[in-house]
Amino acid sequence: MKALLCTEFAPYHQHKIVETDAPIIRKGHVRIAIKAAGVNFPDILMVQGQYQVKPPFPFIAGAECAGIITELGEGVSHLKTGQRIAALPGVGCFAEEAVVPAEICVPISDKMSFEEAAGFVMVYATSYHALKDRSDIKPCETMLVLGAAGGVGLTAVELGKLMGLNIIAAASTQEKLEVCKEYGADHGINYTSEDLKARVREITGKGADICYDPVGDKFTEPALRSLKWGGRHLVIGFAGGEIPKVAFNWMLLKELDVRGIHWGAWIPRNPKAHMENMMELMQMYEQGKIKPRVSGTHKLEDFADAMRALEERRVMGKVVLTMG
Ligand SMILES: NC(=O)c1ccc[n+]([C@@H]2O[C@H](COP(=O)([O-])OP(=O)(O)OC[C@H]3O[C@@H](n4cnc5c(N)ncnc54)[C@H](OP(=O)(O)O)[C@@H]3O)[C@@H](O)[C@H]2O)c1
Repeated sequence: MKALLCTEFAPYHQHKIVETDAPIIRKGHVRIAIKAAGVNFPDILMVQGQYQVKPPFPFIAGAECAGIITELGEGVSHLKTGQRIAALPGVGCFAEEAVVPAEICVPISDKMSFEEAAGFVMVYATSYHALKDRSDIKPCETMLVLGAAGGVGLTAVELGKLMGLNIIAAASTQEKLEVCKEYGADHGINYTSEDLKARVREITGKGADICYDPVGDKFTEPALRSLKWGGRHLVIGFAGGEIPKVAFNWMLLKELDVRGIHWGAWIPRNPKAHMENMMELMQMYEQGKIKPRVSGTHKLEDFADAMRALEERRVMGKVVLTMG
């Protein structure tokens, strides 16, 4: 099969798609014929040796995918061959086949394309967990979303609106803010040309109740300072590069909460709640309440173009690779 096989860490564009052996089926696992794979920022970091997880060589890159089950390992009874599923094994998805634990397979709606499904699990489940399980949201509260047109950002806009929040989207271009409006944002702030804190105050009066922050870097400070008394700042990620360091007195002055979200580590501690969240998200999709945005598809061979688009902040929603 064809795969992005990493035998050493190197800049992503130096890696190659090669012919390699298909993985061997194992007890409790299923084989998937992969149809599409979502590309995420950690995929870029992982092949370059800059991610916290460093799999032993050789490994196949790619955290998440969607496809059809072609073989069941011993002991798997709740799935069947021919079934359409999405899965997020963390590695092994930039390939034509993968063998993944049966328990992480999420059956997908017949209405959902493989391209939509390939980029669905990580971004929707992260934002849903953040908003449902970690934010104590009340209807009509205001949430500021940074990097709002990015993978997780756009799902926070969409799900937040669905959960009754007023949404302020913050992004780097007008085009991105237009997409956020299509996904439910009530207001937009271009944080490369406008003063983030001043604009949030202008829109809300007293400040935002919640900030969803997947960007970090220089954006965290004005976002945190734009919160009102009792506000919650959700730490999602650091796509901007730097992990910000904040002064504790800001939390004291307005009784702010800073809440970390680590969806991947939450799942093994709460497998039942995670599956419930996935079922609820699939139901929302079935009912037409959420609409995954695929901003671009590339062939597996062109993985570097997809990674470059992410790196250059050109992706609005998800970028995916297609196989075969
Ligand atoms: N905590 C968790 O459980 C969890 C789960 C999933 C993902 N994450 C993390 O969340 C972060 C965002 O993931 P994502 O999938 O939304 O990524 P993404 O699709 O690349 O979006 C990130 C956004 O960050 C903004 N950005 C600002 N400076 C940037 C820079 N120098 N390079 C790239 N983007 C920059 C961009 O928006 P503008 O151009 O509008 O600024 C971009 O749209 C990542 O750090 C990821 O690891 C965390």
